[in-house]
Order: sequence, then structure tokens, then C-alpha cells
Amino acid sequence: NSFYLSLIFHLLKQHAVCLHRRNSTREQLRMHHLIKQLPRAIIIGVRKGGTRALLEMLSLHPAVVKASQEVHFFDNDENYDRGVDWYLKKMPFSFPHQITIEKSPAYFITEEVPERIFKMNSSIKLLLIVREPTTRAVSDYTQVLEGKERKNKTYNKFEELVIDTKTCEVNTKYKAVRTSIYTKYLEHWLKFFPIEQFHIVDGDHLITDPLPELKLVEQFLNLPSRISQYNLYFNATRGFFCLRFKFMFSKCLAGSKGRIHPDVNLSIKEKLQRFFHPFNQKFIQITGRTFNWP
Ligand code: A3P
Repeated sequence: NSFYLSLIFHLLKQHAVCLHRRNSTREQLRMHHLIKQLPRAIIIGVRKGGTRALLEMLSLHPAVVKASQEVHFFDNDENYDRGVDWYLKKMPFSFPHQITIEKSPAYFITEEVPERIFKMNSSIKLLLIVREPTTRAVSDYTQVLEGKERKNKTYNKFEELVIDTKTCEVNTKYKAVRTSIYTKYLEHWLKFFPIEQFHIVDGDHLITDPLPELKLVEQFLNLPSRISQYNLYFNATRGFFCLRFKFMFSKCLAGSKGRIHPDVNLSIKEKLQRFFHPFNQKFIQITGRTFNWP
């Protein structure tokens, strides 16, 4: 009996040594092939467009690696002054055949950014995700409101901020309104990059039916189609699509994504929609994308 026991023990030990060796070789191989790469595509915005959902969903693709945090390299002077090596260090490890993507929504509205990105890589691919402009403005407001409430501070109502009390017109000084004038920012970007280098994602579609939008992005990035319906499932409790990876590992976006918006006075909403309309027409004309916007 004791002979058999020691034989089993010996065999188990041998097996453990083999496993350890195999794993450490694998680890070394992995270490050798992993590199840091500058992004070949950037999600430049727009804030509250669905930038996080887009990044997370794209990273379901085996050839895509995401920078998890917003890097804010091109919009923050202090970061930019640290140089491109600093930017590269912020990128995740990837295999050479993979592409790295980062998202920093402030890029879209920050004046210096297009020129800075152009200087780094003039052929980079630019992803812009937009939502119906009035909804985006309300979403933007809701995020700020929540921040104030967390600090026990009071904040104006949306209606008070979007309308200029003196003129009774839409208050274009209010940032949440300005950010929704997509064409104004896009036209600035077009001084540096041709329109072919941009792909516009419909953020409202990404909420209700993400797969067709993701397939368009795969095409734009010249990636084989790999994201499938299996990877995305509707979670009724969240009211949003969540992500499913291999081996049944799944996750939904954080609770800060998909907030309940405050009710907005209907006539103010319509006034905003009328205000955005001509800008939207211009945006549609430039980009060639159509939307179900009023
Ligand atoms: P709301 O919170 O207004 O609903 P960003 O990541 O750019 O800040 O955008 C946030 C928005 O992403 C959310 O705005 C939400 O509507 C949208 N979104 C799109 N797909 C989502 C998903 N699968 N889960 C949660 N939010 C999603």
C-alpha cells in the first residue's frame, strides 16, 4: 500500500512540475510577444454619445485591445507635454496583429486636439459616436446634476440652463448645448483629416440594436467580422445590452451608464430640437449618415 501511495505521490509531483514548466514557458512566450502599440483608432467623442459602450463592445473583437481608462493625452496640456512615450506607456499590452483603441470624449470638442493627433499619425482612424442632440444635452446635464447631488449641492433645472432668460432663445453659452452642435466641431476636425478617416456611429442605434453598428465599425477598421449576437444580450433589469465573452463570462456597463433622465418641459425640448435642426442637416450632409432625429 505504502509503495502505491508513494508512486501516486511521485507521479502527481512530476505532473505538477510539468504543468509549472509548461505554464512558465507559456508565460515567457506571452511576455515576448506582447508589446505596447499606439492606437490605430481613437474614439474621439462625443461625451454621452455612448463612448464607453462602444469601446467595451469593440473590445469583444479578438483583434482589438482597449485602453481601459480615458487617457486624455491630446486634450490635456500637462499630459501632452509629457510626450508620446508617456502616451505609449498608458497603452495596454497587445499582440502585434492586434490594434489598440482608446477613448477620450473630450477630444472632439477641444480645439488643439485634431492637429496634435495629426502630428502623431495622419492616417489614424477616428470614431465619433453621436446621439440625438437634445437627448445628449439632457444626458450631459444629468451627469453634472448627479455630481452636484453627490456633493450635496443644488443645481439649476435643465430648462433654466438651456434658455437665455434675457432673450428667451437657446443659450449657446451653455456647454451641454454647444457640445451637441456636432457640425461645428466636425468642421474644425476636417481642416486636418479627410472625411474618409472618420466613421460615425449612431449612438441611439447602439443602445437599441448594437450589432449592426458594430459590424459597420469592424468594416471601417478593416477587421474580419467577429463580434456576434452571442456576445451581446439584452438585460431587461438594466434596460440595456450587456456583454458576453467566451466561456459565459458576462458584464453590463457600470450604473453610471444609462441614468434616468429628468423630465424636460416639452416646449423647451421642441425649441431645442428646432435649434439643432439646421446644424444636424449640415452634419448629415457632411457625413452622409442619416439618423432618426426630429
Ligand atoms: P445615459 O446615461 O444618458 O442613458 P458615454 O459612455 O459616452 O458617457 O455615454 C453614456 C451613454 O451610453 C448612456 O447615456 C447610455 O444611454 C449609453 N449606452 C449605450 N449603450 C449602452 C449600454 N449597453 N449600457 C449602458 N449604457 C449604454
